[in-house]
Amino acid sequence: MSETAVATLIDGDVSAFTYGCDYNPEQWSAETWLEDARLMTDAGVTLVALNIFGWAQLEPVRGHYDFSALDAVIEILHEHGIGINLGTATASPPPWFSSDYPESLPMMADGTRRAFGGRQAFCPSSPAYREHALALVEKVAERYGAHPAVRLWHVSNEIGCHNAHCYCDTSAAAFREWLRARYESVDAVNDAWGTSFWSQRYASWEHIQTPRLTVSTGNPGQALDFMRFSSDELLAHFRAEKAVLQRHSAAPVTTNFMVTAHIRNQDYWSWAPHMDVIANDHYLDHRLGDARSELSFAADATRGLAGGRPWMLMEQATSAVNWQPLNLAKAPGQMIRNTLSHVARGADGISFFQWRASLAGSEKFHSAMLPHAGTDSSVWREVVELGRILEKLAEVTGSVVAAEVAMVFDWQAWWATDLDSHPSAEVRYLPQVHAVYNALLAAGVTVDIVAPGAPVDAYKLVIVPSLYSVTDAAARVLADYVAAGGHAVVTFFSGVVDEHDRVRPGGYPGAFRELLGVTSEEFVPVPRSAVLSLSDGQNAGLWSERLRLDGAEAVSTFTNGPVPGVPAVTRNTSGDGVAWYLATALDEPSLRATLVRAAAEAGVEVPVERDAGVEIVRRVGASGSWVFIINHTDAAFEYQTQGTEIITGAELGIRASATNEISKDGTLDVPAGGVRVVRESRTKK
Ligand code: GAL
Repeated sequence: MSETAVATLIDGDVSAFTYGCDYNPEQWSAETWLEDARLMTDAGVTLVALNIFGWAQLEPVRGHYDFSALDAVIEILHEHGIGINLGTATASPPPWFSSDYPESLPMMADGTRRAFGGRQAFCPSSPAYREHALALVEKVAERYGAHPAVRLWHVSNEIGCHNAHCYCDTSAAAFREWLRARYESVDAVNDAWGTSFWSQRYASWEHIQTPRLTVSTGNPGQALDFMRFSSDELLAHFRAEKAVLQRHSAAPVTTNFMVTAHIRNQDYWSWAPHMDVIANDHYLDHRLGDARSELSFAADATRGLAGGRPWMLMEQATSAVNWQPLNLAKAPGQMIRNTLSHVARGADGISFFQWRASLAGSEKFHSAMLPHAGTDSSVWREVVELGRILEKLAEVTGSVVAAEVAMVFDWQAWWATDLDSHPSAEVRYLPQVHAVYNALLAAGVTVDIVAPGAPVDAYKLVIVPSLYSVTDAAARVLADYVAAGGHAVVTFFSGVVDEHDRVRPGGYPGAFRELLGVTSEEFVPVPRSAVLSLSDGQNAGLWSERLRLDGAEAVSTFTNGPVPGVPAVTRNTSGDGVAWYLATALDEPSLRATLVRAAAEAGVEVPVERDAGVEIVRRVGASGSWVFIINHTDAAFEYQTQGTEIITGAELGIRASATNEISKDGTLDVPAGGVRVVRESRTKK
């Protein structure tokens, strides 16, 4: 990854947040463009994503290009001093393309094709799509590659949001090529996929297909490889567009990731190194138990993809979205609070979808910076206020988030864990990851999200939630870390299979057995309604195991359920370090208490007890440190500190000096629903 700093995109010499939006001027008249640019200036907008869905306007008829409208909009924005995050417009091919190339329409697992009429209606392996998309990118890059307003390139849009998996014959041929490169021989594929089972052994490459719907359960190895292939296929497309852009432009190139709970199609650990800037889109998902915690998790995971460096929030909503069953409007202050959670967790750029609320199309009830009601609206006033706050916070940009704990997270393990025919359909990857993350969040412990096998020596504690599939190499990194004195917590259903979804024999948790000093003979899941009681008074559910100690000590045992007397939580001294195993799904208070105990033992600074709805995160930079106190509760919160609160300008805890007898109180009052950011006068860890 090259080192383009988000905060220097607008003016290389001045560090500031980028603030902006997606702008779809195709939907508006030329008079509106002018009004928009003026209002953007009022709101403090500095970066606008343009031309995201522009293909039908730029190439209305095959091979005939018309750039007049885009030229005009770019000039208007440029004249108003607004930078451009220029889309390549390839996210959605126009009607003529689907009509000329019907075979490019994506095929579903059941063998039916999807029609034109939504967006992203193309097969990722379609040669016609690749050819026409790159021809368009060439034209766009030639025309605007050296334009001074273009600060960033935005390839396509949320790549693979709708069309990640295509099951057509073209995809099958590309899948076979991908398999040839990975395995070299059909026999190696057979071994990896375990095709001796159910008479699935392949004698020829030509017989291998995409995993279309089958009458019984399909082959899990094939399903996993197809997901890897599909992620690689779209990454290859991103790279092809990037290569064209780089021939015409020196501006950095990115695309907007979807690090979110409801889309898991791309292995972003493999995508991240190809981005010049890491950008994420995030929307509160009220279908989840805890939308606010998921926001923090997504922000931390995005920072992980950025290797700890600042990143950009490319899309969020000012208020409601339009695509959930019940689209909740944000409460007053919530948008600013949510935004500053992203900032606290490393975002140096904040953008919204979209600038002006559409009047037509399926997103007309999606909120925007400028709502249907216009500027006399609380959404608009909050948008303007956020612009002012980000200006005040400019000094924070470039700093990084301080974390002593790492948590391992993996898209490929997510795919593998959620395959069917497992011990319990109730055990899904993301809920287990979220449970661990949320317990740490509630305890006030900031975590970095890391890939399996990433170096973790810098952390005091590494947590590995339900990492069902793991490579030998990644398991070794954790074992070496603990041997050298590190502390680790591994939770149930981890280490079970290798990267081909083949079980590691000799007992569970396979790859981590030795590290954890335990062996499990059998998984014994329980119904969701069952409450498992543990000998130390804690409670758990979902899962138990026929576990025996092979060197570890039992921290607690089950006192009821199918395996009474069997260890539930264990602790093993391994080399110079310590490794815990949680062989069950502890309930929230029990999980929090156990993780806090492991963290404290590892020397992690655990904040004092406070309401879990108060989020406290510290960013640290060359010139100092800033603590963000985000109060999601209905009650005011008092925080003791020394320094200057940047949003209100309040000085706190400034000590008396010989010449000046003023001694200010160090109590910061963070109002209910409010956010305060303190430049600390003493840097804490
Ligand atoms: C994103 C997408 C935007 C818009 C938005 C609505 O997935 O990139 O174009 O559709 O969602 O929430």
